[in-house]
Amino acid sequence: MNALEILHQRLPQARPRVAVVLGSGWAELALKVKDPVHFSYADLPGFPLPSVQGHAGDLVWGRMGDHEIVLLNGRKHTYETGQPDGMKQSLRTLRDWGCEVLVQTNAAGSLQAHMPTGSLMVLTDHINFSQHSPLIGETGSERFVSMINAYDAELRKQALCIANSLGVTLHQGVYAWCVGPQFETPAEIRMLARLGADAVGMSTVPETIIARHIGMRVLAFSLLTNMAAGMSDEALSHSHTLAQAQAASEPACSLLERVITGMEL
Ligand code: HPA
Repeated sequence: MNALEILHQRLPQARPRVAVVLGSGWAELALKVKDPVHFSYADLPGFPLPSVQGHAGDLVWGRMGDHEIVLLNGRKHTYETGQPDGMKQSLRTLRDWGCEVLVQTNAAGSLQAHMPTGSLMVLTDHINFSQHSPLIGETGSERFVSMINAYDAELRKQALCIANSLGVTLHQGVYAWCVGPQFETPAEIRMLARLGADAVGMSTVPETIIARHIGMRVLAFSLLTNMAAGMSDEALSHSHTLAQAQAASEPACSLLERVITGMEL
């Protein structure tokens, strides 16, 4: 059986319309899901087994407000294999299951002094600095996918409105993707700042490209776990990212729960 058949067999009535990818610091969103049903990625053909500490590997179906949702707790990063298409099959499965919206979350470094560690940013756009594409090898004219409005303006407006009504500061900005796994050099960060980046991270962009190719609308959030290299005296490390992500996780997940609950599709 393929993954979709397995999901259909276990949950014949389920028709989730919103999928959420949980990055570092966002896993607690899974605790806010009502009537959750868990699947291990190991039982879903095509779903990746992540190898990074802080990333699990399971799918959670359930409800949030009036929405049926599905969470991907753990993603494959390009830096694990060199391949940017590690999430292609899983996202296609979710689209085939009925998901129209992909909500992405990540941890990122801030390039803006007015967005300190612990703040939240909704992505307005991205810079695919690596120029890797998960669509290499695709055929057909759909591969020439427009990346204008890659991050859905209407969904972003709804998110900003909800943050505003809760009194939560939600910054807006451009996310630059560097493959990693090494952090950037201070010179690279100065360059990215000049190019118009507000945040930098090692994920999200490939999944946005995959999602746009299969017609899903994308809404994405960064939890800023550090100032980018050279911008402060902070030492950069994965354990620092995880510790900061953990510290800022509660307000981030609470906001996201409200955004998803209030989402008008
Ligand atoms: N750079 C790249 N990825 C990151 C960072 C960073 O500074 N912080 C968290 N993820």
